[in-house]
Amino acid sequence: MAASSATKNWLYLFCITLILCIELTQCIVTYDKKSLIINGHRRILFSGSIHYPRSTPEMWQDLIQKAKDGGLDVIDTYVFWNGHEPSPGNYNFEGRYDLVRFVKTVQKAGLYMHLRIGPFVCAEWNFGGLPVWLKYVPGISFRTDNEPFKNAMQKFTTKIVQMMKDEKLFESQGGPIILSQIENEYGAESHAFGAAGHAYLTWAAKMAVGLNTGVPWVMCKQDDAPDPIINTCNGFYCDYFSPNNKETKPTMWTEAWSGWFSDFGGPIPHRPVQDLAFAVARFVQKGGSFTNYYMYHGGTNFGRTAGGPFITTSYDYDAPIDEYGLLRQPKYDHLKELHKAIKSSERAILSADPAFVSLGTYEQAHVFSSKAGGCAAFIANYHLNSSTTVTFRKKHYTLPPWSISILPDCKHAVYNTAQVGTKTSLINMLPTNVNRLAWQTFSEDVSTVDSDSKMTVSGLLDQVSVTRDASDYLWYTTSVVINPSELHRGSSPSLSVESEGHALHVYVNNQLIGSAFGGPESRKVKVTGNANLRAGTNKISLLSVAVGLQNNGPHFELWKTGVLGPVVLHGVGKGSWDLSRQKWSYQVGLKGESMNLAAPTGISSVDWTESSLVAQMNRPLTWYKAYFNAPQGGEPLAIDMKGMGKGQVWINGQSIGRYWTIHGKGSCNVCNYAGTYRPVKCQTRCGVPTQRWYHVPRSWLKPTQNMIIMFEEIGGDPSTVSIMKRTFK
Ligand code: GAL
Repeated sequence: MAASSATKNWLYLFCITLILCIELTQCIVTYDKKSLIINGHRRILFSGSIHYPRSTPEMWQDLIQKAKDGGLDVIDTYVFWNGHEPSPGNYNFEGRYDLVRFVKTVQKAGLYMHLRIGPFVCAEWNFGGLPVWLKYVPGISFRTDNEPFKNAMQKFTTKIVQMMKDEKLFESQGGPIILSQIENEYGAESHAFGAAGHAYLTWAAKMAVGLNTGVPWVMCKQDDAPDPIINTCNGFYCDYFSPNNKETKPTMWTEAWSGWFSDFGGPIPHRPVQDLAFAVARFVQKGGSFTNYYMYHGGTNFGRTAGGPFITTSYDYDAPIDEYGLLRQPKYDHLKELHKAIKSSERAILSADPAFVSLGTYEQAHVFSSKAGGCAAFIANYHLNSSTTVTFRKKHYTLPPWSISILPDCKHAVYNTAQVGTKTSLINMLPTNVNRLAWQTFSEDVSTVDSDSKMTVSGLLDQVSVTRDASDYLWYTTSVVINPSELHRGSSPSLSVESEGHALHVYVNNQLIGSAFGGPESRKVKVTGNANLRAGTNKISLLSVAVGLQNNGPHFELWKTGVLGPVVLHGVGKGSWDLSRQKWSYQVGLKGESMNLAAPTGISSVDWTESSLVAQMNRPLTWYKAYFNAPQGGEPLAIDMKGMGKGQVWINGQSIGRYWTIHGKGSCNVCNYAGTYRPVKCQTRCGVPTQRWYHVPRSWLKPTQNMIIMFEEIGGDPSTVSIMKRTFK
């Protein structure tokens, strides 16, 4: 019943909007220097990024409703090209990639939409959202004045715009989309590309505008955004920002960073809400009229969608809605109150330009006052440590350090950015009855790797050029023939292998001689180990592992991954023996991957072994399988991987993502956020796994017989794996 009355309401709203659009031709989005103008009205808009593939369709409605309840007007998302076109011309708009369903869910909630098409998106997403196959289009060069790139970009952008038009989703058609973005933070890059960069940017702007969506386009961090495109700000603070042609353009903030992403091997960054609220109030008091929180819900990098390298599977981002869809307090409530206070000042803000009034060395007021709009004031204390009392229009106001009070009537302070009323929620992971799983195992056989390889060439190849990113794993194998005379008595030959990243396991005669892992500071790795050579033929097998592809930087598509050498044997015969240029065989992926073990259809293709828990421990390159019944209740679920090492995990064929329990290195004892450009000094999880819990969406479970598959790369203790409920206390 509730659903059908909601549908009726929505239909009613939709019809009214449509009638208004058709009869009064009011359905347009324009702008002036103050703000976006929707159907003739200037608006102060709060927006939040929720990336549709970072949650499940079953979660979308709840997330969007929570965003609305938090005082947002707009939902913002990137469009993820590599998810939509996994191979040239093969499109995917299903499940988590059902973009139309997502936009319609936003519309049903009565919110607007900002569609950031990109199609380069950065976003800590694999390859910045561009398909890996695109790199292999002959003659292509990314994000510059290059015909193959421009053709592909235009084709995809046009497809997305047409799809939205066909469903009448632009505001000009009565739909929710009020804004679109082309490219992403190209400004700095365009300098690296010189004249070709400028030509590309001009082309991209013209191409986008030519698609006639009836709503404005933005380019973020693009000082020279060509008219009529609006240049917007991204950052922790944007009060210093003004768009080019500021007499005609509104001041917009497309990424107000609510926290920050995390890397495997790093700590978890936090941004205190006091600082975020201060930054937003500071932006609005200077005339900013559109603020988008990046992220409002960060979500999860399921599968191998995380970029980087080394971006964690969790993309929680310390956002107001946490990875699992729960409200993070006090962030959520404190921003909600901020939105309310600013909305009560909206008429004043939109009717006048702010007048600046100095109230002391660190104290100032910004006053919006006009006959038409009444009066609203923002009173600020910029001192980092001291509170102060100021006099404004003959009244006294006490302000904590680094804070702004909002006075919607220029008399009463209804909100202060540093005064938080809501209690902090603490993560509380509770056990369920899913523990002590009965595991079966299947081990990768290192000895058969080269017999399966399909490709042998001279020299070492870039990993992605061989795998085309079909797998994180690539085997490089070669052999060396050693004369007995070359093995001097008492000498211990060693092998050293250098890789561009991201992780490496080195085997000699099927025995592991060493592993190395890159991290946020350096992707490159080097293994040097005792080579254990014998007289005769020796086999060298290198397993190179990618942990997400580069997602930004000039010509990021040219960055190399994998073993590019040198690979050198030391202590054999005369000295160093460089193996880099000899014949190498290549095998893409693991045996278990080629047999599709993670899919419910693939499990029967191997003989799984049942063995004691002790025998199952610390086994590298091992697949694990078990079944479990779904835990009761409705709380979000996570799988606890604390006892495992590194690998991937699937449930009922759905990839939960990469896991890695490497510890967070860094400093966790300080939180001097105020005044710093990047308030990421507030950090947790130093000296413990950066990510221990991995989100298991409830909708991926059946009541009974859920199949869990893990692939463990370095060895762990599967008896510690369990399913937990996520709550806040
Ligand atoms: C921005 C970029 C976003 C995201 C963000 C960091 O520079 O536009 O896509 O990568 O940084 O989370």
